[in-house]
Amino acid sequence: MKKHFLITAGPTREPLDPVRYLTNRSSGKMGYALAGAARHEGHRVTLISGPCDLDVPEGVDYLPVETAAEMYGAVERYIAKSDIAIFAAAVADYRPAHVPEHKIKKTGDTLTIDFIKNPDILGSARTEFGYEGTLIGFAAETENVEENARGKLQRKGCDFVVANDVSRKDIGFDSSENEVMLVFAEHTEPLPKDDKYQLSLDIIARALAI
Ligand code: PMT
Repeated sequence: MKKHFLITAGPTREPLDPVRYLTNRSSGKMGYALAGAARHEGHRVTLISGPCDLDVPEGVDYLPVETAAEMYGAVERYIAKSDIAIFAAAVADYRPAHVPEHKIKKTGDTLTIDFIKNPDILGSARTEFGYEGTLIGFAAETENVEENARGKLQRKGCDFVVANDVSRKDIGFDSSENEVMLVFAEHTEPLPKDDKYQLSLDIIARALAI
Protein backbone atom coordinates (compact mmCIF):
# COMPACT_ATOMS: atom_id res chain seq x y z
CA MET A 1 0.00 0.00 0.00
CA LYS A 2 1.25 3.49 -0.84
CA LYS A 3 2.15 5.70 2.13
CA HIS A 4 2.91 9.34 2.83
CA PHE A 5 6.50 9.93 4.01
CA LEU A 6 7.73 13.06 5.80
CA ILE A 7 11.52 13.34 5.61
CA THR A 8 13.83 15.94 7.15
CA ALA A 9 17.21 16.49 5.49
CA GLY A 10 20.32 18.62 5.43
CA PRO A 11 21.82 21.00 7.95
CA THR A 12 20.23 23.94 9.69
CA ARG A 13 21.74 27.42 9.64
CA GLU A 14 21.64 29.45 12.83
CA PRO A 15 22.39 33.16 12.27
CA LEU A 16 25.13 34.76 14.38
CA ASP A 17 24.57 38.21 12.88
CA PRO A 18 23.19 39.45 9.52
CA VAL A 19 26.18 38.05 7.56
CA ARG A 20 27.33 34.95 9.50
CA TYR A 21 25.81 31.67 10.56
CA LEU A 22 26.56 28.43 12.40
CA THR A 23 26.02 25.18 10.52
CA ASN A 24 27.44 21.65 10.12
CA ARG A 25 28.79 19.28 7.48
CA SER A 26 25.50 17.71 6.37
CA SER A 27 25.15 17.78 2.58
CA GLY A 28 21.58 16.48 2.55
CA LYS A 29 22.58 13.42 0.50
CA MET A 30 21.13 10.92 2.99
CA GLY A 31 17.76 12.66 3.34
CA TYR A 32 17.44 13.37 -0.38
CA ALA A 33 18.29 9.72 -1.17
CA LEU A 34 15.50 8.64 1.20
CA ALA A 35 13.08 11.08 -0.43
CA GLY A 36 14.03 9.96 -3.95
CA ALA A 37 13.82 6.27 -3.07
CA ALA A 38 10.42 6.59 -1.35
CA ARG A 39 9.06 8.55 -4.30
CA HIS A 40 10.53 6.03 -6.76
CA GLU A 41 8.65 3.29 -4.88
CA GLY A 42 5.43 5.22 -5.56
CA HIS A 43 4.93 6.84 -2.15
CA ARG A 44 3.97 10.45 -1.52
CA VAL A 45 6.89 12.39 -0.02
CA THR A 46 7.14 15.68 1.86
CA LEU A 47 10.80 16.74 2.11
CA ILE A 48 11.61 19.40 4.72
CA SER A 49 15.15 20.47 4.04
CA GLY A 50 17.77 22.82 5.36
CA PRO A 51 20.01 24.58 2.81
CA CYS A 52 21.49 21.98 0.40
CA ASP A 53 23.16 22.14 -2.98
CA LEU A 54 21.22 19.16 -4.39
CA ASP A 55 18.45 18.69 -6.93
CA VAL A 56 15.11 18.00 -5.31
CA PRO A 57 13.93 14.53 -6.42
CA GLU A 58 11.14 14.76 -8.97
CA GLY A 59 7.59 14.48 -7.67
CA VAL A 60 8.51 15.29 -4.08
CA ASP A 61 6.72 18.07 -2.11
CA TYR A 62 9.61 20.30 -1.07
CA LEU A 63 9.64 22.68 1.89
CA PRO A 64 12.90 24.62 2.27
CA VAL A 65 13.83 25.94 5.71
CA GLU A 66 16.93 27.52 7.23
CA THR A 67 16.89 27.38 11.01
CA ALA A 68 15.97 24.65 13.49
CA ALA A 69 13.01 26.78 14.59
CA GLU A 70 11.73 26.93 10.99
CA MET A 71 12.21 23.15 10.60
CA TYR A 72 10.31 22.62 13.86
CA GLY A 73 7.43 24.76 12.55
CA ALA A 74 7.29 22.92 9.21
CA VAL A 75 7.35 19.48 10.87
CA GLU A 76 4.69 20.55 13.38
CA ARG A 77 2.48 21.67 10.48
CA TYR A 78 2.88 18.64 8.21
CA ILE A 79 3.70 15.58 10.34
CA ALA A 80 0.08 14.63 11.07
CA LYS A 81 -0.51 14.14 7.34
CA SER A 82 2.25 11.49 7.12
CA ASP A 83 2.22 7.75 7.83
CA ILE A 84 5.99 7.44 8.21
CA ALA A 85 8.36 10.19 9.40
CA ILE A 86 12.14 9.90 8.96
CA PHE A 87 14.43 12.47 10.56
CA ALA A 88 17.75 12.52 8.67
CA ALA A 89 18.47 16.24 9.18
CA ALA A 90 21.46 17.40 11.19
CA VAL A 91 19.71 19.99 13.33
CA ALA A 92 21.75 22.46 15.36
CA ASP A 93 21.23 21.66 19.02
CA TYR A 94 21.91 25.29 20.02
CA ARG A 95 21.50 28.75 18.50
CA PRO A 96 22.88 32.13 19.55
CA ALA A 97 20.79 33.57 22.36
CA HIS A 98 20.83 37.00 20.77
CA VAL A 99 21.26 37.89 17.08
CA PRO A 100 22.40 41.51 16.71
CA GLU A 101 20.80 43.70 14.06
CA HIS A 102 24.22 44.71 12.71
CA LYS A 103 27.42 42.82 11.85
CA ILE A 104 29.52 41.91 14.90
CA LYS A 105 32.60 44.17 14.92
CA LYS A 106 36.15 42.98 15.44
CA THR A 107 36.81 44.63 18.78
CA GLY A 108 38.55 42.34 21.31
CA ASP A 109 41.01 39.42 20.97
CA THR A 110 38.29 36.98 21.96
CA LEU A 111 34.57 36.84 21.31
CA THR A 112 32.05 35.12 23.56
CA ILE A 113 28.61 34.16 22.31
CA ASP A 114 25.88 32.69 24.51
CA PHE A 115 23.86 29.83 23.02
CA ILE A 116 20.42 28.58 23.95
CA LYS A 117 18.93 25.17 23.23
CA ASN A 118 16.94 24.61 20.05
CA PRO A 119 13.75 22.56 20.23
CA ASP A 120 14.28 18.82 19.72
CA ILE A 121 12.08 18.22 16.67
CA LEU A 122 12.27 14.42 16.68
CA GLY A 123 11.84 14.43 20.46
CA SER A 124 8.66 16.51 20.06
CA ALA A 125 6.98 14.18 17.56
CA ARG A 126 5.29 11.85 20.07
CA THR A 127 4.84 14.39 22.87
CA GLU A 128 4.18 17.88 21.47
CA PHE A 129 2.81 16.86 18.05
CA GLY A 130 0.95 13.70 19.21
CA TYR A 131 2.30 11.76 16.23
CA GLU A 132 1.10 8.16 16.04
CA GLY A 133 2.69 7.07 12.75
CA THR A 134 5.93 5.16 12.25
CA LEU A 135 8.77 7.29 13.63
CA ILE A 136 12.38 6.81 12.54
CA GLY A 137 15.25 8.87 13.89
CA PHE A 138 18.90 8.99 12.95
CA ALA A 139 21.79 8.98 15.39
CA ALA A 140 25.06 10.63 14.38
CA GLU A 141 27.61 9.22 16.81
CA THR A 142 31.39 9.24 17.21
CA GLU A 143 31.56 6.62 20.00
CA ASN A 144 29.35 3.90 21.57
CA VAL A 145 27.24 4.08 18.42
CA GLU A 146 24.72 1.32 19.17
CA GLU A 147 24.31 2.17 22.87
CA ASN A 148 23.83 5.90 22.21
CA ALA A 149 21.39 5.18 19.38
CA ARG A 150 19.29 2.91 21.63
CA GLY A 151 19.15 5.71 24.22
CA LYS A 152 17.79 8.06 21.53
CA LEU A 153 15.29 5.41 20.40
CA GLN A 154 13.89 5.18 23.93
CA ARG A 155 13.96 8.89 24.79
CA LYS A 156 12.35 10.00 21.54
CA GLY A 157 9.78 7.21 21.12
CA CYS A 158 11.12 5.95 17.76
CA ASP A 159 10.23 2.65 16.13
CA PHE A 160 13.86 2.35 15.10
CA VAL A 161 16.94 4.53 14.80
CA VAL A 162 19.38 4.59 11.89
CA ALA A 163 22.79 4.90 13.55
CA ASN A 164 25.94 5.99 11.75
CA ASP A 165 29.50 6.58 12.88
CA VAL A 166 30.23 10.17 11.84
CA SER A 167 33.88 9.97 12.92
CA ARG A 168 34.58 8.03 9.71
CA LYS A 169 35.53 9.98 6.60
CA ASP A 170 34.32 7.35 4.10
CA ILE A 171 30.68 7.36 5.28
CA GLY A 172 28.20 9.66 7.03
CA PHE A 173 28.53 13.40 6.42
CA ASP A 174 28.92 14.52 2.80
CA SER A 175 29.72 11.06 1.47
CA SER A 176 27.75 9.25 -1.22
CA GLU A 177 27.97 6.06 0.87
CA ASN A 178 26.96 5.14 4.38
CA GLU A 179 27.17 2.15 6.72
CA VAL A 180 24.43 2.06 9.31
CA MET A 181 22.89 0.01 12.08
CA LEU A 182 19.12 -0.16 12.37
CA VAL A 183 18.65 -0.07 16.14
CA PHE A 184 15.33 -1.47 17.38
CA ALA A 185 14.23 -1.83 21.03
CA GLU A 186 15.16 -5.51 21.22
CA HIS A 187 17.69 -6.05 18.44
CA THR A 188 20.08 -4.39 16.02
CA GLU A 189 20.39 -4.99 12.31
CA PRO A 190 23.65 -3.88 10.68
CA LEU A 191 23.44 -2.85 7.01
CA PRO A 192 26.75 -3.15 5.14
CA LYS A 193 28.39 -0.14 3.49
CA ASP A 194 26.49 0.85 0.37
CA ASP A 195 25.44 3.95 -1.53
CA LYS A 196 22.88 6.08 0.24
CA TYR A 197 20.15 5.37 -2.32
CA GLN A 198 20.44 1.60 -1.91
CA LEU A 199 20.48 1.92 1.89
CA SER A 200 17.42 4.16 1.63
CA LEU A 201 15.50 1.40 -0.17
CA ASP A 202 16.41 -0.96 2.70
CA ILE A 203 15.40 1.57 5.37
CA ILE A 204 12.09 2.22 3.61
CA ALA A 205 11.40 -1.52 3.35
CA ARG A 206 12.00 -1.90 7.13
CA ALA A 207 9.76 1.10 7.86
CA LEU A 208 6.94 -0.31 5.76
CA ALA A 209 7.19 -3.65 7.61
CA ILE A 210 6.30 -2.04 10.98
O1 PMT B 1 23.46 14.93 4.90
P1 PMT B 1 24.60 13.97 4.63
O2 PMT B 1 25.88 14.69 4.25
O3 PMT B 1 24.21 12.89 3.64
O4 PMT B 1 24.96 13.23 6.01
C1 PMT B 1 24.05 12.32 6.55
C2 PMT B 1 23.94 12.48 8.09
C3 PMT B 1 25.28 12.13 8.74
C4 PMT B 1 23.58 13.93 8.44
C5 PMT B 1 22.79 11.51 8.54
O5 PMT B 1 23.14 10.19 8.20
C6 PMT B 1 22.54 11.63 10.05
O6 PMT B 1 23.19 11.00 10.87
N1 PMT B 1 21.55 12.47 10.41
C7 PMT B 1 21.26 12.82 11.83
C8 PMT B 1 22.20 13.90 12.26
C9 PMT B 1 22.03 14.32 13.71
O7 PMT B 1 21.91 15.50 13.96
O8 PMT B 1 21.94 13.33 14.58
P2 PMT B 1 21.79 13.49 16.19
O9 PMT B 1 22.27 12.22 16.77
O10 PMT B 1 22.44 14.77 16.68
O11 PMT B 1 20.23 13.68 16.38
C10 PMT B 1 19.38 12.57 16.66
C11 PMT B 1 18.08 12.70 15.90
O12 PMT B 1 17.32 13.82 16.39
C12 PMT B 1 18.22 12.90 14.40
O13 PMT B 1 17.17 12.18 13.77
C13 PMT B 1 18.00 14.41 14.21
O14 PMT B 1 17.42 14.72 12.94
C14 PMT B 1 17.01 14.70 15.34
N2 PMT B 1 17.11 16.06 15.92
C15 PMT B 1 18.23 16.46 16.56
C16 PMT B 1 18.27 17.69 17.17
C17 PMT B 1 17.12 18.52 17.10
N3 PMT B 1 17.13 19.72 17.67
N4 PMT B 1 16.02 18.10 16.45
C18 PMT B 1 16.00 16.88 15.84
O15 PMT B 1 14.98 16.50 15.22
